[in-house]
Amino acid sequence: MVRLVSEGMAQQPRQLPAWLLYDAEGSRLFEAICAQPEYSLTRVETALLESRAAELAAALGDGVLVEFGAGNARKVAPLLKALRPPAYVPMDISATHLAGACEALQAQHPAVPVLGISCDYSLLAQLPEHPLLQGERLLGFYPGSSLGNFSPDQARRLLEQFSRLLGPGSCLLIGIDQPKDRARLEAAYNDAAGASAAFGRNLLVRLNRDLGGTFDPGAFAYRARWEADHSRIAMALVSQQEQEVQLAGRRWRFGAGEELITEYSVKYSPEAFTALAAAAGWRAVRRWSDPAGDLSLHLLVPAAAGRGGPQGADSAGTAPVQRES
Ligand SMILES: C[S@@+](CC[C@H](N)C(=O)[O-])C[C@H]1O[C@@H](n2cnc3c(N)ncnc32)[C@H](O)[C@@H]1O
Repeated sequence: MVRLVSEGMAQQPRQLPAWLLYDAEGSRLFEAICAQPEYSLTRVETALLESRAAELAAALGDGVLVEFGAGNARKVAPLLKALRPPAYVPMDISATHLAGACEALQAQHPAVPVLGISCDYSLLAQLPEHPLLQGERLLGFYPGSSLGNFSPDQARRLLEQFSRLLGPGSCLLIGIDQPKDRARLEAAYNDAAGASAAFGRNLLVRLNRDLGGTFDPGAFAYRARWEADHSRIAMALVSQQEQEVQLAGRRWRFGAGEELITEYSVKYSPEAFTALAAAAGWRAVRRWSDPAGDLSLHLLVPAAAGRGGPQGADSAGTAPVQRES
């Protein structure tokens, strides 16, 4: 963590890995963001999962459901009901939040064993050996458009990593937010109630606590802007004055107006995402979107799988993606 933070602070502009936002308080604040009227992604994706649960379950087929970055693990509920998988494996870097989510979920779905794994999913090479996972096909689930927190190059590597982790007979259901009107996007990430700003500033509180930082969170303003050239929202803390802080055993100078990027959210059109997935060795076989076309759930299978694949996939490997909205 010290090395990652020092490297990020030395970058121009300064940028820290997005997962650092998710300590216990950050996870709580993210839930507050999801409830803001301007931030529709969670509501839209949840409604899509609920309305298409039976179809999604049929397309995914049998297997253990593995969720990357599960957070409060509420989005998976309709899939669990429709799929009744032999086990559900949520992963998250925020250990206490994950433990609470697993407990709540297990109480609601007593028939599905829940095996939570607190880890950095981008570094996990294999699932733990566990009797419930022995010989099971793995179904990946990655909602929330969290892939957008990674640069396109990192995102390709992450999708490759998921492919290795899930294995040849697997599939991956992934939620991807699409580019849209600048005003709408900027409003979503600059909510009027200040939940996004509190989430961003909490990073400084975490750095003070965990890495001996001396940040004054009040000396940084929060700002999110749409960068059309990169098809991404850039979220930043902006130094309100010249200042010096200590962090991870070093002193760092901030000029007035200098930014610390807390996270990006890259938005992909369905075509751009399908091309990215293909570059990572996945073949997009089906897509579901909400009526307004704001986001898509893409079903991917390993490109090398050829014939077969999950129920509903094109079996010859040549048919265009089926779109359903
Ligand atoms: C944007 S939230 C999405 C939560 C939930 N999947 C949803 O769609 O609402 C990202 C979640 O992924 C977790 N996370 C972020 N980076 C991670 C990483 N590298 N490894 C594991 N979990 C990570 C965070 O703790 C957080 O719960």
